[in-house]
Amino acid sequence: MIVLAGNTSIGYDDDGSGLPIALIHGFPHDRSLWAPQLGGLAAPCRAIALDVPGFGESSAPAATSMDRFADDVAAALGALGVGSAVIAGLSMGGYIALALWRRHPELVRALILAHTRAGPDDERTRASRMAMIAVVRERGPGAIADRLVAGMTGRTTRKKNPDLVEAVHRMMSRAPTAGIIGALTAMRDRIDSTPTLATIKVPTLVIVGDEDVFTPVSEAQALHRGITGSRLEVIEGAGHVSNLERPAAFNHVVSEFLTSLTSQ
Ligand code: MLT
Repeated sequence: MIVLAGNTSIGYDDDGSGLPIALIHGFPHDRSLWAPQLGGLAAPCRAIALDVPGFGESSAPAATSMDRFADDVAAALGALGVGSAVIAGLSMGGYIALALWRRHPELVRALILAHTRAGPDDERTRASRMAMIAVVRERGPGAIADRLVAGMTGRTTRKKNPDLVEAVHRMMSRAPTAGIIGALTAMRDRIDSTPTLATIKVPTLVIVGDEDVFTPVSEAQALHRGITGSRLEVIEGAGHVSNLERPAAFNHVVSEFLTSLTSQ
């Protein structure tokens, strides 16, 4: 389905009823990342999986930034009648979740920060973003998928579930070039969210996989240390997309967290 957020069309799936949880994917994914969570969370909730502008069925705005992504997500949720939601972001989706907290705190009932970090890009990562922009312009999204696929899942998944690795590669290969360039630019230019952590006053769950090489466990531990009262869950045998690699374990920790919110 499509909802209008100002001038941006946002693709979304909307499943269930109860406490709203907005699911924001990483790079270069689309909302199909969240297939195991739609209908898979035991806690009664309304799960809304959104395509980040430039991905899936969402249109690509001319200029992108984490703030712009956050504003578009906020506008989409508003258009869907959601006044506040648990904001769950995976990796780049986590960068957007932290921008949402800064810009639209009234919308954030609680946070789930999965496979993400607070810090900005260092010089090496910025250079790699620029290189990837050149690669996608020259060789298309498939070349980006080829470059990222090995790190996207953990070694256990690569050994035991090659079909999932293939599916993740297919998802990344269909990301539009404009979306990839927009997101790489937004990630390269994002601000340091470390000072934001001390301002977070809502319940927060931090999730990471013990085999994640893109955002190692140390990054999740830093988020956990920085956010007072947060909870940290390390999912064993999972890389950067534990929600796909170990969906039952991921859904279990998220459902427990959602239940803790509704029983407060
Ligand atoms: C993601 O999965 O969204 C990326 O690993 C984020 C990044 O490249 O910083």
